[in-house]
Amino acid sequence: MLRSKDLLGLQSLSAEEISEILEGAVTTKELLKSDRKCSEDLKGKTLVTLFYENSTRTRTSFELAGKYLGANEVNISVATSSVQKGETLIDTGKTLDALKVDFIAIRHPMAGAPKLLAENVKASVINGGDGMHEHPTQALLDMFTLKERYGKIAGLKVAILGDIKHSRVALSNLFGLTRLGAEVYMYAPGTMIPKGIQRLGAHLAASREEAIEGADAVMGLRIQLERMNGGLFPSLGEYSRYYGVDGNLLKYAKPGAVVLHPGPVNRGVELTPGVIDGKSSLITEQVTNGLAVRMSVLKLLAAYRENNI
Ligand code: CP
Repeated sequence: MLRSKDLLGLQSLSAEEISEILEGAVTTKELLKSDRKCSEDLKGKTLVTLFYENSTRTRTSFELAGKYLGANEVNISVATSSVQKGETLIDTGKTLDALKVDFIAIRHPMAGAPKLLAENVKASVINGGDGMHEHPTQALLDMFTLKERYGKIAGLKVAILGDIKHSRVALSNLFGLTRLGAEVYMYAPGTMIPKGIQRLGAHLAASREEAIEGADAVMGLRIQLERMNGGLFPSLGEYSRYYGVDGNLLKYAKPGAVVLHPGPVNRGVELTPGVIDGKSSLITEQVTNGLAVRMSVLKLLAAYRENNI
Protein backbone atom coordinates (compact mmCIF):
# COMPACT_ATOMS: atom_id res chain seq x y z
CA MET A 1 0.00 0.00 0.00
CA LEU A 2 1.34 3.45 -0.88
CA ARG A 3 1.62 5.86 2.06
CA SER A 4 0.53 9.04 0.28
CA LYS A 5 -2.30 10.21 -1.99
CA ASP A 6 0.34 11.53 -4.44
CA LEU A 7 3.40 10.28 -6.31
CA LEU A 8 5.82 13.22 -6.29
CA GLY A 9 9.23 11.52 -6.40
CA LEU A 10 11.22 8.43 -5.51
CA GLN A 11 13.32 10.09 -2.80
CA SER A 12 10.41 9.77 -0.38
CA LEU A 13 9.31 6.24 -1.38
CA SER A 14 10.32 3.18 0.62
CA ALA A 15 11.79 0.07 -1.02
CA GLU A 16 8.48 -1.70 -0.28
CA GLU A 17 6.44 0.98 -2.06
CA ILE A 18 8.72 0.90 -5.12
CA SER A 19 8.58 -2.91 -5.20
CA GLU A 20 4.78 -2.84 -4.95
CA ILE A 21 4.56 -0.54 -7.99
CA LEU A 22 6.95 -2.78 -9.95
CA GLU A 23 5.01 -5.92 -8.99
CA GLY A 24 1.74 -4.24 -10.00
CA ALA A 25 3.25 -3.48 -13.40
CA VAL A 26 3.74 -7.21 -14.03
CA THR A 27 -0.06 -7.58 -13.89
CA THR A 28 -0.80 -4.47 -15.96
CA LYS A 29 1.72 -5.54 -18.61
CA GLU A 30 -0.09 -8.90 -18.87
CA LEU A 31 -3.30 -6.95 -19.42
CA LEU A 32 -1.62 -4.91 -22.17
CA LYS A 33 -0.48 -8.10 -23.89
CA SER A 34 -4.01 -9.58 -23.81
CA ASP A 35 -6.49 -9.08 -26.67
CA ARG A 36 -8.84 -7.17 -24.38
CA LYS A 37 -6.22 -4.66 -23.18
CA CYS A 38 -8.65 -2.96 -20.81
CA SER A 39 -10.16 -3.38 -17.35
CA GLU A 40 -12.70 -1.59 -15.17
CA ASP A 41 -10.30 -0.93 -12.27
CA LEU A 42 -10.75 2.84 -12.54
CA LYS A 43 -14.35 2.89 -13.77
CA GLY A 44 -16.02 6.14 -12.69
CA LYS A 45 -12.68 7.86 -11.94
CA THR A 46 -11.29 10.82 -13.87
CA LEU A 47 -7.67 11.50 -14.85
CA VAL A 48 -6.48 14.87 -16.15
CA THR A 49 -3.11 15.41 -17.80
CA LEU A 50 -1.78 18.93 -17.19
CA PHE A 51 1.52 19.41 -19.03
CA TYR A 52 3.27 22.78 -19.00
CA GLU A 53 6.14 21.30 -21.03
CA ASN A 54 6.25 19.23 -24.20
CA SER A 55 5.94 15.46 -24.00
CA THR A 56 5.20 12.50 -26.24
CA ARG A 57 5.83 9.37 -24.13
CA THR A 58 4.79 10.47 -20.63
CA ARG A 59 1.60 12.33 -21.51
CA THR A 60 0.38 9.76 -24.05
CA SER A 61 1.08 6.84 -21.74
CA PHE A 62 -0.74 8.49 -18.81
CA GLU A 63 -3.71 9.10 -21.10
CA LEU A 64 -3.70 5.52 -22.38
CA ALA A 65 -3.10 4.14 -18.87
CA GLY A 66 -6.27 5.90 -17.70
CA LYS A 67 -8.27 4.73 -20.72
CA TYR A 68 -7.12 1.09 -20.47
CA LEU A 69 -8.13 1.04 -16.80
CA GLY A 70 -11.60 2.34 -17.63
CA ALA A 71 -11.19 5.93 -16.34
CA ASN A 72 -12.49 9.09 -17.97
CA GLU A 73 -9.49 10.91 -19.35
CA VAL A 74 -9.08 14.59 -20.27
CA ASN A 75 -6.01 16.47 -21.45
CA ILE A 76 -5.74 20.16 -20.59
CA SER A 77 -3.95 22.03 -23.31
CA VAL A 78 -2.02 24.58 -21.25
CA ALA A 79 -1.46 26.72 -24.37
CA THR A 80 -5.22 27.28 -24.76
CA SER A 81 -6.27 27.10 -21.09
CA SER A 82 -6.92 29.89 -18.58
CA VAL A 83 -3.26 29.54 -17.50
CA GLN A 84 -2.63 31.91 -20.42
CA LYS A 85 -4.93 34.46 -18.73
CA GLY A 86 -2.76 34.38 -15.62
CA GLU A 87 -4.55 31.70 -13.58
CA THR A 88 -2.26 30.32 -10.90
CA LEU A 89 -1.33 26.66 -10.56
CA ILE A 90 -3.24 26.41 -7.27
CA ASP A 91 -6.38 28.00 -8.74
CA THR A 92 -6.13 25.66 -11.73
CA GLY A 93 -5.89 22.74 -9.28
CA LYS A 94 -8.88 23.93 -7.24
CA THR A 95 -10.88 24.23 -10.47
CA LEU A 96 -10.02 20.60 -11.30
CA ASP A 97 -11.06 19.56 -7.76
CA ALA A 98 -14.39 21.34 -8.28
CA LEU A 99 -14.79 19.33 -11.49
CA LYS A 100 -14.42 16.14 -9.37
CA VAL A 101 -11.13 15.05 -10.90
CA ASP A 102 -9.47 12.11 -9.08
CA PHE A 103 -5.94 12.14 -10.58
CA ILE A 104 -3.80 14.95 -12.03
CA ALA A 105 -0.64 13.98 -13.94
CA ILE A 106 1.42 17.15 -14.20
CA ARG A 107 4.66 18.18 -15.91
CA HIS A 108 6.02 21.61 -15.00
CA PRO A 109 9.31 23.47 -15.63
CA MET A 110 9.53 24.49 -11.95
CA ALA A 111 10.95 21.98 -9.46
CA GLY A 112 8.42 21.56 -6.67
CA ALA A 113 5.34 22.58 -8.68
CA PRO A 114 3.68 19.12 -8.34
CA LYS A 115 4.22 19.25 -4.55
CA LEU A 116 2.67 22.71 -4.35
CA LEU A 117 -0.31 21.47 -6.34
CA ALA A 118 -0.64 18.29 -4.25
CA GLU A 119 -0.75 20.32 -1.02
CA ASN A 120 -3.66 22.34 -2.33
CA VAL A 121 -5.95 19.79 -4.00
CA LYS A 122 -7.96 16.73 -2.99
CA ALA A 123 -7.02 14.93 -6.24
CA SER A 124 -3.99 12.63 -6.34
CA VAL A 125 -1.09 14.38 -8.07
CA ILE A 126 1.43 12.39 -10.10
CA ASN A 127 4.68 14.09 -11.04
CA GLY A 128 5.34 13.68 -14.78
CA GLY A 129 8.60 15.64 -14.49
CA ASP A 130 9.33 18.87 -12.58
CA GLY A 131 12.23 21.01 -13.74
CA MET A 132 15.60 19.48 -12.88
CA HIS A 133 14.11 17.66 -9.86
CA GLU A 134 12.34 14.30 -10.37
CA HIS A 135 10.58 12.18 -13.00
CA PRO A 136 9.47 9.25 -10.83
CA THR A 137 7.44 7.24 -13.34
CA GLN A 138 10.35 7.33 -15.83
CA ALA A 139 12.72 5.86 -13.23
CA LEU A 140 10.09 3.30 -12.22
CA LEU A 141 9.74 2.15 -15.82
CA ASP A 142 13.53 1.97 -16.15
CA MET A 143 13.67 -0.16 -13.01
CA PHE A 144 10.81 -2.34 -14.24
CA THR A 145 12.69 -2.88 -17.53
CA LEU A 146 15.82 -3.93 -15.61
CA LYS A 147 13.82 -6.20 -13.31
CA GLU A 148 12.15 -7.87 -16.29
CA ARG A 149 15.59 -8.56 -17.80
CA TYR A 150 17.54 -9.55 -14.70
CA GLY A 151 14.83 -10.63 -12.24
CA LYS A 152 16.27 -8.24 -9.63
CA ILE A 153 17.64 -4.74 -9.06
CA ALA A 154 19.89 -5.42 -6.05
CA GLY A 155 23.52 -5.90 -7.03
CA LEU A 156 23.20 -4.52 -10.58
CA LYS A 157 25.71 -1.95 -11.82
CA VAL A 158 24.01 0.80 -13.81
CA ALA A 159 26.12 3.35 -15.72
CA ILE A 160 24.39 6.68 -16.42
CA LEU A 161 26.07 8.94 -18.97
CA GLY A 162 25.02 12.31 -20.30
CA ASP A 163 23.50 15.51 -19.05
CA ILE A 164 23.15 14.53 -15.40
CA LYS A 165 22.95 18.10 -14.09
CA HIS A 166 19.76 18.96 -15.97
CA SER A 167 18.26 15.48 -15.72
CA ARG A 168 15.29 14.68 -13.47
CA VAL A 169 15.51 11.14 -14.88
CA ALA A 170 19.05 10.73 -13.46
CA LEU A 171 18.01 11.92 -10.01
CA SER A 172 14.90 9.72 -9.78
CA ASN A 173 16.89 6.72 -11.02
CA LEU A 174 19.61 7.39 -8.46
CA PHE A 175 17.05 7.47 -5.63
CA GLY A 176 15.13 4.41 -6.85
CA LEU A 177 18.02 2.19 -7.94
CA THR A 178 20.11 2.75 -4.81
CA ARG A 179 17.05 2.24 -2.57
CA LEU A 180 16.66 -1.23 -4.11
CA GLY A 181 20.38 -2.01 -3.79
CA ALA A 182 21.89 -1.24 -7.21
CA GLU A 183 25.21 0.59 -7.73
CA VAL A 184 24.92 3.72 -9.89
CA TYR A 185 27.97 5.05 -11.74
CA MET A 186 27.80 8.41 -13.51
CA TYR A 187 29.98 10.08 -16.11
CA ALA A 188 29.57 13.44 -17.85
CA PRO A 189 31.53 16.60 -18.61
CA GLY A 190 32.33 18.42 -15.34
CA THR A 191 29.87 21.13 -16.34
CA MET A 192 27.06 18.57 -16.39
CA ILE A 193 27.64 17.00 -12.96
CA PRO A 194 25.60 18.55 -10.14
CA LYS A 195 27.47 19.39 -6.94
CA GLY A 196 26.98 16.86 -4.16
CA ILE A 197 25.65 14.02 -6.32
CA GLN A 198 28.02 11.59 -4.54
CA ARG A 199 26.38 12.41 -1.21
CA LEU A 200 23.15 11.05 -2.74
CA GLY A 201 24.83 7.69 -3.43
CA ALA A 202 26.30 8.06 -6.95
CA HIS A 203 29.79 6.84 -7.85
CA LEU A 204 31.48 9.42 -10.10
CA ALA A 205 33.62 7.75 -12.77
CA ALA A 206 36.73 9.39 -14.20
CA SER A 207 36.07 8.09 -17.73
CA ARG A 208 33.39 6.50 -19.90
CA GLU A 209 35.30 3.22 -19.73
CA GLU A 210 35.34 3.24 -15.91
CA ALA A 211 31.62 3.98 -15.76
CA ILE A 212 30.74 1.21 -18.22
CA GLU A 213 33.28 -1.42 -17.04
CA GLY A 214 31.30 -4.48 -15.90
CA ALA A 215 27.96 -2.66 -16.07
CA ASP A 216 24.71 -4.59 -16.42
CA ALA A 217 23.02 -1.57 -17.97
CA VAL A 218 24.18 1.58 -19.75
CA MET A 219 21.75 4.49 -19.69
CA GLY A 220 22.25 7.44 -22.02
CA LEU A 221 20.65 10.76 -21.09
CA ARG A 222 19.45 13.41 -23.53
CA ILE A 223 21.48 16.58 -23.90
CA GLN A 224 18.86 19.08 -22.76
CA LEU A 225 19.65 22.03 -24.96
CA GLU A 226 16.49 23.81 -23.75
CA ARG A 227 17.76 23.94 -20.13
CA MET A 228 21.27 25.16 -20.92
CA ASN A 229 22.50 28.71 -20.91
CA GLY A 230 25.31 27.74 -23.31
CA GLY A 231 29.01 27.04 -22.82
CA LEU A 232 28.69 23.61 -21.19
CA PHE A 233 30.56 21.86 -24.01
CA PRO A 234 32.15 23.12 -27.23
CA SER A 235 29.87 21.48 -29.82
CA LEU A 236 27.49 18.54 -30.26
CA GLY A 237 30.15 16.82 -32.42
CA GLU A 238 32.74 17.06 -29.67
CA TYR A 239 30.20 15.95 -27.05
CA SER A 240 29.45 12.85 -29.09
CA ARG A 241 33.14 12.10 -29.63
CA TYR A 242 34.26 12.48 -26.02
CA TYR A 243 31.15 11.70 -23.98
CA GLY A 244 28.80 9.68 -26.23
CA VAL A 245 28.40 5.89 -26.26
CA ASP A 246 29.18 3.74 -29.32
CA GLY A 247 29.47 0.00 -29.94
CA ASN A 248 33.18 -0.07 -29.00
CA LEU A 249 32.51 1.37 -25.56
CA LEU A 250 29.76 -1.17 -24.94
CA LYS A 251 32.46 -3.88 -25.06
CA TYR A 252 33.53 -2.71 -21.57
CA ALA A 253 30.09 -3.66 -20.18
CA LYS A 254 29.14 -7.17 -19.03
CA PRO A 255 28.32 -9.55 -21.89
CA GLY A 256 24.59 -9.22 -22.56
CA ALA A 257 24.39 -5.77 -20.93
CA VAL A 258 21.40 -3.67 -21.94
CA VAL A 259 21.15 -0.09 -23.22
CA LEU A 260 18.46 2.26 -21.90
CA HIS A 261 17.49 5.83 -22.79
CA PRO A 262 14.43 7.73 -21.55
CA GLY A 263 13.89 9.39 -24.91
CA PRO A 264 13.61 11.50 -26.88
CA VAL A 265 17.09 10.62 -28.18
CA ASN A 266 19.39 13.05 -29.98
CA ARG A 267 20.51 10.44 -32.54
CA GLY A 268 24.27 10.36 -32.92
CA VAL A 269 24.90 12.65 -29.92
CA GLU A 270 24.50 10.70 -26.67
CA LEU A 271 24.22 7.29 -28.40
CA THR A 272 25.19 6.26 -31.92
CA PRO A 273 22.36 5.01 -34.20
CA GLY A 274 23.99 1.54 -34.10
CA VAL A 275 23.59 1.45 -30.31
CA ILE A 276 20.07 2.91 -30.33
CA ASP A 277 18.85 0.33 -32.86
CA GLY A 278 21.19 -2.50 -31.80
CA LYS A 279 20.34 -5.81 -30.13
CA SER A 280 21.27 -4.53 -26.65
CA SER A 281 18.83 -1.63 -26.83
CA LEU A 282 15.62 -1.83 -24.76
CA ILE A 283 14.54 1.72 -25.64
CA THR A 284 11.31 0.66 -27.37
CA GLU A 285 10.48 -1.82 -24.61
CA GLN A 286 10.93 1.02 -22.09
CA VAL A 287 8.07 2.89 -23.76
CA THR A 288 5.70 -0.10 -23.43
CA ASN A 289 6.83 -0.57 -19.85
CA GLY A 290 6.04 3.08 -19.16
CA LEU A 291 2.41 2.33 -19.89
CA ALA A 292 2.40 -0.71 -17.59
CA VAL A 293 4.08 1.19 -14.76
CA ARG A 294 1.74 4.18 -15.02
CA MET A 295 -1.26 1.83 -14.93
CA SER A 296 0.18 0.25 -11.79
CA VAL A 297 0.69 3.67 -10.17
CA LEU A 298 -2.89 4.71 -10.94
CA LYS A 299 -4.29 1.47 -9.50
CA LEU A 300 -2.27 1.82 -6.28
CA LEU A 301 -3.20 5.48 -5.83
CA ALA A 302 -6.85 4.54 -6.41
CA ALA A 303 -6.53 1.92 -3.65
CA TYR A 304 -5.01 4.55 -1.32
CA ARG A 305 -7.91 6.90 -2.07
CA GLU A 306 -10.45 4.14 -1.45
CA ASN A 307 -9.01 3.50 2.02
CA ASN A 308 -8.01 6.99 3.12
CA ILE A 309 -10.01 9.73 1.36
N1 CP B 1 11.04 10.25 -21.29
C1 CP B 1 10.16 11.25 -21.38
O1 CP B 1 9.80 11.88 -20.39
O2 CP B 1 9.72 11.50 -22.65
P1 CP B 1 8.65 12.62 -23.05
O3 CP B 1 9.32 13.96 -22.85
O4 CP B 1 8.33 12.34 -24.50
O5 CP B 1 7.46 12.48 -22.15
